Amino acid sequence: MSNNVNNNFCHYTVMLKEAVDGLDCQDGKIYIDATAGGGGHSYEIAKRISPNGKLISTDMDIEAINAARQKTEEFSDIVEMAQASYTQIPEILYKRGIDKITGGILFDLGASYHQLTSAERGFSFSKDAPLDMRFNPDDSFSAYDVINTYKEEELANIFRLYGEERFPGRIARRIVEQRKKEPIKTTLQLANLIKSSVPFTKSKINPATRVFQAIRIEVNNELNNIEKAIKCIIPLLEKDARMVVISFHSLEDRLVKTLFKYYSSDCNCHPEQLICKCDPKQLEVLTKKPIVASEEEVKLNPPSRSAKLRVAKKV
Ligand SMILES: C[S@@+](CC[C@H](N)C(=O)[O-])C[C@H]1O[C@@H](n2cnc3c(N)ncnc32)[C@H](O)[C@@H]1O
Repeated sequence: MSNNVNNNFCHYTVMLKEAVDGLDCQDGKIYIDATAGGGGHSYEIAKRISPNGKLISTDMDIEAINAARQKTEEFSDIVEMAQASYTQIPEILYKRGIDKITGGILFDLGASYHQLTSAERGFSFSKDAPLDMRFNPDDSFSAYDVINTYKEEELANIFRLYGEERFPGRIARRIVEQRKKEPIKTTLQLANLIKSSVPFTKSKINPATRVFQAIRIEVNNELNNIEKAIKCIIPLLEKDARMVVISFHSLEDRLVKTLFKYYSSDCNCHPEQLICKCDPKQLEVLTKKPIVASEEEVKLNPPSRSAKLRVAKKV
């Protein structure tokens, strides 16, 4: 684990060695860190591919880009930062005249510790702040819009699907009742409303945890973005280039596993189809089971407990 604290930006990089080993970093090759965050992975990649490699690190969040730039300063001749969604990587490469990712790409999905704990970003229910949760603060769509405009059924579906919440209907109903009186504007207003909607339990986990996670996934379109990015980046990988994905949510991991399986199969045609019309197999999966954080890492950084890392190689 590496703890990056720079410019008040704090994030505990998860599975640093496992991720960078998975990329098989080699001097002279081109790598992408799709989720720069505090620059923990970017720094280690840059160190390993120096002096002739190239690293492009993207993040939607300008605070992350600034922190990652500072962290990788000593490698500034080979590292470039781009504030963008990883779904825009094909355009980013095109603009730089790069037609293939020769080394590999890393996705370390979800939110950074910095985002989750900065009160003003509105991801956390431990301090009161406007409902926000945007990875990119310039985006126009925020948690406020989800909570105050979605239909009751849509809210319940999101809480069930993305939060695996046990009382999605009750919470959605209370939100809709409350917002008829006045809009729900802050994290604490919402957290209290959730608390009052569900039966009391002795669990140490705040009942708002799952719902807040679900709203964050919805606001940032996280699952659709991952699918879109993986699909459009596979053709840009040169033979033997790696794709490493760390996910923290079971839905994310299932999606990555399914996509890796699809692109590593010889044929995905319907069994009744006589002639195969598939594109040739594109990936070889190098992790039959996902790699998980070591006991030692989990002790030092408990959220790493839910991380799953998968690696594939372009064939
Ligand atoms: C877990 S953190 C990455 C931490 C980083 N690997 C490190 O070691 O410091 C995930 C980052 O992904 C970014 N992110 C989420 N969705 C994104 C997207 N669609 N495009 C680019 N960055 C995204 C978030 O803003 C956040 O900074």
